[in-house]
Amino acid sequence: MTLRGCFITLEGLDGAGKSTHANWMAGWLREAGIDLLETREPGGTPLGEQLRELVLHQAMDLRTETLLMFAARNEHWNTRIRPALERGQWVLCDRYTDASFAYQGGGRELGAPAIRVLEDWVQQGQGPDCTFLFDVPLETARARLQQGRAAADRFEQEGAAFFERTRQAYHARVADDPARFRLIDARRSIPDIREHLASALRDLLKTHGGDAAQSATRGGA
Ligand code: TMP
Repeated sequence: MTLRGCFITLEGLDGAGKSTHANWMAGWLREAGIDLLETREPGGTPLGEQLRELVLHQAMDLRTETLLMFAARNEHWNTRIRPALERGQWVLCDRYTDASFAYQGGGRELGAPAIRVLEDWVQQGQGPDCTFLFDVPLETARARLQQGRAAADRFEQEGAAFFERTRQAYHARVADDPARFRLIDARRSIPDIREHLASALRDLLKTHGGDAAQSATRGGA
């Protein structure tokens, strides 16, 4: 069956402000008449949410961690994301496989080839239509993280070198597939970022949206 909906993913370092923008983008798309599934990784299914608890809090070998990310993703893709796209719903997913390339491949230094094998096995050539990468320098991400949370998870506890490698790996993903990515300078003001996001979403409506596209492009941001 063909995938009629548009699959959008959001990526960035912890502390890049991604979740705030995710909520705003979901509201914008719904106002534009889009039937939207909003979800996240790791997680997105009952099993995936259980795996999320494990990978965020339980010490484990790097390959185990990577396999669990993809186990959760396989469940998510097959039971929620793919069926939604087939029905014509759009999907807005907070993190996806680029996070495995960035965090396990880059941050934890597993390298891209192992991730690519799992990506091919689980996704069989299918992936996001558009990925927004919220990019901030390390110091900004870390300062925001320190303001935010109560107890840091296994990733948030990592040091500067880990996050620098993670950020570099995200940039390598953009270089490999520039047409799919929208790079957002997440140091800019929230109104500036929203303007940029709205313009990118309007472009997606033009290419994927049908009736909804026409009313949204008339309506502005
Ligand atoms: P979140 O706080 O944005 O929901 O993400 C949870 C953490 O999981 C975040 O630190 C990044 C990490 N992660 C990976 O390491 N690999 C992955 O494939 C995914 C999806 C997330």
